[in-house]
Amino acid sequence: MIVLKDVSFAYEKKNYILKDFSIEFPSNKISVLLGPNGVGKTTLLKLVAGILRPLKGDIKILGRDPSSMRGKIGYVPQILSLYPWMRVRENIELPLKIGRKNISERDKKIEEISRRLGIKDLLNKYPKEVSGGEAQKIMLARVFVSDVEILLLDEPLSMIDIDSREEIIHFIREFSHEKKLTVLTVTHNIEDALSLGDFIYILNHRPLKLIDILEKDLYDKKDLTIKIRSLLKNY
Ligand SMILES: Nc1ncnc2c1ncn2[C@@H]1O[C@H](COP(=O)(O)OP(=O)(O)OP(=O)(O)O)[C@@H](O)[C@H]1O
Ligand SMILES: [Mg+2]
Repeated sequence: MIVLKDVSFAYEKKNYILKDFSIEFPSNKISVLLGPNGVGKTTLLKLVAGILRPLKGDIKILGRDPSSMRGKIGYVPQILSLYPWMRVRENIELPLKIGRKNISERDKKIEEISRRLGIKDLLNKYPKEVSGGEAQKIMLARVFVSDVEILLLDEPLSMIDIDSREEIIHFIREFSHEKKLTVLTVTHNIEDALSLGDFIYILNHRPLKLIDILEKDLYDKKDLTIKIRSLLKNY
């Protein structure tokens, strides 16, 4: 479980993005954050990742401090970030090298994940030679080859086209459940939130407020879409 208790955070003095904010995300499930631009979704993910530190309050991942979970947390940022001087294969290979996996193990993992994500043909290219959507798939591949327990995905589908969207969502779900990952992800698309998530968190601001948590299995899809739309509109 990921637990935030009474967390406050501001980039600039007194301009709180989070103020005494508490929230919990269940283990081994996919939780999706839905909310308007600028509410603090990315900030929340960065706090959980340990990239940002709260001014006040407590964050625990499986009872531990984010800073002590290095290597167990995979974070895919909203802004594409591949190392331009490395080929796609080397970009994906990086966490495996850091994790000191041997060459045959690295090759096997890269082969499996890039096949499942449909990016095998890109492995020898450089990041500047791939499209935005392809780069997003490569970033997913990079996090999926690593041995993480917690996965933080900031709008992982924003550039993926309709055709491969369903496949990628299926892959993220299948892989996460297979490896029992605890996933926290952000999207702006209600359809994607429903296909990807087990739980949908509706957020608003400011400072950040949790409006509702909806468990997908408890609703009919159409009813849930209507409910989410009205929740997002009313606040
Ligand atoms: N490095 C920063 N310095 C100062 N303010 C920042 C910084 N990063 C974000 N902010 C501000 O904090 C607020 C929350 O930003 P955040 O990126 O967390 O929003 P978000 O919910 O992810 O939005 P979006 O849906 O547009 O990605 C915004 O008002 C943003 O302008
Ligand atoms: Mg964001």
